[in-house]
Amino acid sequence: MNSEKTGFFISFEGNDGSGKTTQIRLLAQWFESRGRAVLQLREPGGTPIGEKVRDILLDNASSGMEPVTEMMLYAASRAQLTRTVITPALKRGDVVICDRFVDSSYAYQGFGRGLGMETVQAVNLVAIDGQMPHLTFFLDLDADTSMARRNASGTEADRLENEEMDFHRRAHDGYLALCAASGGRIKRIPVMTGLVQRTQEEVALEIRDFVLDLLS
Ligand code: TYD
Repeated sequence: MNSEKTGFFISFEGNDGSGKTTQIRLLAQWFESRGRAVLQLREPGGTPIGEKVRDILLDNASSGMEPVTEMMLYAASRAQLTRTVITPALKRGDVVICDRFVDSSYAYQGFGRGLGMETVQAVNLVAIDGQMPHLTFFLDLDADTSMARRNASGTEADRLENEEMDFHRRAHDGYLALCAASGGRIKRIPVMTGLVQRTQEEVALEIRDFVLDLLS
């Protein structure tokens, strides 16, 4: 793969509070220091329409949303993002780093809501416009620690964060299953070593090594 001409699509996944935001920023800076144009995106959202869909999805007033409705709204935001932003950027040869992509739907809607992989895949085949990340980092932080951190943050919990613990545990188990079935695309990056949190730099270096492998 010619790293100077080919666009790269990298996604970050994991339960809330796993440190995705920091790692995305560090990786984007690293690419930029190597002269690459980088686009940092998030899902749901990343486009004006997608951000409106995001508001509906995360609003606590949207209680009672059917799991299928939820799956389709995430897919709708994704359809807009892929067609108007991701595909054009990859064609230009840019690096696209996305905070969550279709694996989130497999983990949260497929496993968390119990809709199953096939249903989520069928809907998302239409949404992703033929794009799949070249590389995905699953920042592995168990659901209980993740939610405990979230609750300690003092910020108001959104509709998804307010879901029962078992929902978050199923999503986390889903990620582990997705990793195993991904044929190497999804790299599991542990956030903790036992009870000790790894440093941001240590995690960033591990991520960079995988990226260097991809570039070569
Ligand atoms: P966000 O605030 O972006 O969470 P985080 O900072 O953890 O990434 O909210 C996105 C929420 O939506 C998060 O709880 C995961 C969930 N989600 C799904 O359930 N399905 C999806 O397809 C996506 C993209 C996100």
